[in-house]
Amino acid sequence: MKRVAILISGGGSNMLALVASMTTDHPARPVLVASNDPAATGLTRAAALGIPVAAVDHRRFGKDRQAFEAELLQHIDAAQPDILCLAGFMRILTPGFIARFEGRMLNIHPSLLPKYPGLHTHARALSAGDTEAGCTVHEVTAELDAGPILGQARVPVLPGDSEDTLAARVLHAEHRLYPAVLRRFAAGDRSPCFL
Ligand code: GAR
Repeated sequence: MKRVAILISGGGSNMLALVASMTTDHPARPVLVASNDPAATGLTRAAALGIPVAAVDHRRFGKDRQAFEAELLQHIDAAQPDILCLAGFMRILTPGFIARFEGRMLNIHPSLLPKYPGLHTHARALSAGDTEAGCTVHEVTAELDAGPILGQARVPVLPGDSEDTLAARVLHAEHRLYPAVLRRFAAGDRSPCFL
């Protein structure tokens, strides 16, 4: 049984989809939900499900990312996770932190990577006139949003779409994709999965 820690910054809808998927026949179970924002509503949602939660407010550390990560790591290490899932975690991690979880840290990104790494993915897809959008789960490596792709789900861009309508359609796809990839990954299957 693999132990999964999930890092969030906000509402945590992807975290909830991951947690909901980890039923009895699943090769993994959630052991921690942690956030850089103590006000993240996902923390309350996870706690209500009986999952241990932790918050380390990054603002307390100013620009010192390593000090922030050192405190976050204390919570993560105590939970002894085999796999770390970033699910809407909006802090850049240092190379040292990433190296520590090499090959066992996943991220979900709201675009069809390698298109649109970074922020504002939906606005960029709309202004490029794309007819298709989607999301990607990938392994986290030192280069932002560039690690090996473990899965992608595609959705259409529809006439009249705004950033919000497109984001909602992609988020719905994220909730299918991330659990599908985690189940495979926890079972040792790193071949990419396309929905
Ligand atoms: C999701 O759309 C996720 O792909 C995105 O943040 C949202 C979090 O939603 N992540 C990134 O942009 C990472 N660069 P959630 O808190 O409801 O899961």
